[in-house]
Amino acid sequence: MSEPMETRNESPFLLEMTDIDKSFPGVKALDHARLQLRPGTVHALMGENGAGKSTLMKCLFGIYTRDSGQVLMNGKPVSFANPRDALDNGVAMVHQELNQVLRRNVMENVWLGRFPTTRIGTVDTKKMYTDTKAVFEKLEIDVDPKQIIGSLSVSKRQMVEIAKAVSYDAKILVLDEPTSSLTEDEVDHLFRIMNRLTAEGVGIIYISHKMDEILRISDDVTIMRDGQWVATKNAKELTKEEIIRLMVGRDMTNQFPPKNNKVGEVLLDVQNLSGMYEPTCHDVSFQLHKGEVLGVAGLVGSRRTELLNTLFGYFTRNGGKVEMNGKAINNVTTAEARKNGFALITEERRATGIFAEGSILFNSVIANIDSYGKPLLKGRKMDKDTDWVIDSIKVKTPSKKTHIKSLSGGNQQKVIIGRWLLTQPDVLLLDEPTRGIDVGAKYEIYQLILNLAEQGKGVMMVSSEMPELLGICDRILVMSNGKLAGIVERGKDFGDIPGEQETIMALAAKYV
Ligand SMILES: Nc1ncnc2c1ncn2[C@@H]1O[C@H](COP(=O)(O)OP(=O)(O)OP(=O)(O)O)[C@@H](O)[C@H]1O
Ligand SMILES: [Mg+2]
Repeated sequence: MSEPMETRNESPFLLEMTDIDKSFPGVKALDHARLQLRPGTVHALMGENGAGKSTLMKCLFGIYTRDSGQVLMNGKPVSFANPRDALDNGVAMVHQELNQVLRRNVMENVWLGRFPTTRIGTVDTKKMYTDTKAVFEKLEIDVDPKQIIGSLSVSKRQMVEIAKAVSYDAKILVLDEPTSSLTEDEVDHLFRIMNRLTAEGVGIIYISHKMDEILRISDDVTIMRDGQWVATKNAKELTKEEIIRLMVGRDMTNQFPPKNNKVGEVLLDVQNLSGMYEPTCHDVSFQLHKGEVLGVAGLVGSRRTELLNTLFGYFTRNGGKVEMNGKAINNVTTAEARKNGFALITEERRATGIFAEGSILFNSVIANIDSYGKPLLKGRKMDKDTDWVIDSIKVKTPSKKTHIKSLSGGNQQKVIIGRWLLTQPDVLLLDEPTRGIDVGAKYEIYQLILNLAEQGKGVMMVSSEMPELLGICDRILVMSNGKLAGIVERGKDFGDIPGEQETIMALAAKYV
C-alpha cells in the first residue's frame, strides 16, 4: 500500500495554486486563478493592469486571505496567516510599492522585525552590519549598510529590497515589477542574481510589463485576464505578439494610433538652460512647437528628468532663457509653472503624486480644483471630469468613489496621468509616461498625447522605450551626460528606418 503522503510529495511543482477566488467590495479580483511553479525556474506572471497579478501573490504571501481555492507547497497544503508566517515558511516577496522606513538606515530596513540581539537583549548592530555586508557582497550590491535609506536613489532602494528578500533564504521568491526603476546595468545585475538563485533550486515568480525582459529571463509564462487564468506556456513557445493577444484577448495590430497632429509655430524657445545643483542639465537649447510631440531620449543618468524638472521649476534654474509665445517666463516655482500653462507628470508619480486616502474623484480633480467655480455646479463638473479620466484611459475601478489605494498599481498611475491631462496644459511634460502600464492602456495614453498635440499643445516626453519615441514623436532630442547631443528630425519613414535608432544611440553616447 502506498502512503498518500509520499505520492503527494512527488509533486513536480514547488508551488501549486488552484481555483483561487478573491473578492473585494464591487470587484471579483480573482476568479479561479491558478499558477504552478517548478523549482529552479523563473515563472513570469503577466496580464493587464488590474488583471489580478499582485492580488494572487498577496493571497500567497498572507496579506490577503483567499475566499476559496488551494495552495500546495511541495505537494502539501499551506495557508499563511500573514507575511511573517510566509517568510518563516520559505516564501519572500518584493512588492510593487516600496515600503521602507526612509529615515532609518539600510541595515535596519533589511532586518526590520527581526533585529539580532546581544546576550543582554539590546540590538546587536555589529552583527546586523556584518550580516548585511555579507548578503550585499554575495549579491555584489554596492551599498553602505549604514546609509539612511531615504538618501538612496529609487533604484538602489529597490536593490536593497531584493537583497532583503534574498536574505530570508526563501525557496519561493516573488518579484512584483522589480525593474520598474532599475537602470539597464542593474537589470542585468538582478538577472544574474536570479540565475544564481534558480541554480540553487529557488522558484521565482516574476511580474513585469516589459515584454523583452520576460522573454529573456523566464522559463514559463502564465497569463491572466480579469482575475482568471488564461494560459501557461513555455517562454520559448511564445512571442511578444502572442503574449499581447493572450493578455488583451484580441489581436493588437497597431501599437500606435495614427498621427494627425500638425507641427505649428514656436511655442517654447529654450536657450542655454542649466540647472543649479548637480546632477543637472547644462546649456540646453531647443524649441518646442505648437502641436509637436518632442521626444527626449538618452541613457539612464543622461539628465533627461533633470531637464524636464528644471524647465518646470521643480529644480532651480541656474541660467538660460525660456520664452513662451515670445514672452520670457521664469517658472521659479512649480505654482508659477502651472499658472504659465505647464504640467509635469513625474517618473515617480506613484510615490509622489497619490493622495492614498482620497477617492479617484479627489485624485483626479485636485490639480484643477480652482477651476470648478460655483458650488452648485461644482459637483457635477467634477463628476464629469472624473468620468472622463476613467473612460479615456480605461481606469479599472468599481466606481469613482473608490479609494485610489485599492486600485492596482498601473491603474493608480493612470489616474495621476488623467489628473494632469484635465488641467489642459499648453505644455505637457511627461517623464516615462507608460512605465508600469500595460500594452492596451499604453495605446490610450499615446492617443491622448496625440489629441493634445492636435489641439496645438506642445508635448515633451522622456522615454527609455525607443519604439514609443519613434512611434509617436515628431522630433527626438537626445541628451548625453547633461548636455544636448542633438535633435533627430522625423524622416518620411521615421520609425521604419533602423538608421534612426542607430543615430539616436550614437548621440546618446556622445559625451559619456
Ligand atoms: N485592497 C483592495 N481593495 C479593493 N480592491 C482591490 C484591492 N486590491 C486589489 N483590488 C482590485 O483587484 C483587482 C486586481 O488588482 P491587482 O492589483 O491584483 O492587479 P495587477 O494585475 O497587479 O495590476 P497592475 O499591473 O496594475 O499592478 C483590481 O480591480 C483592483 O482594483
Ligand atoms: Mg500589481
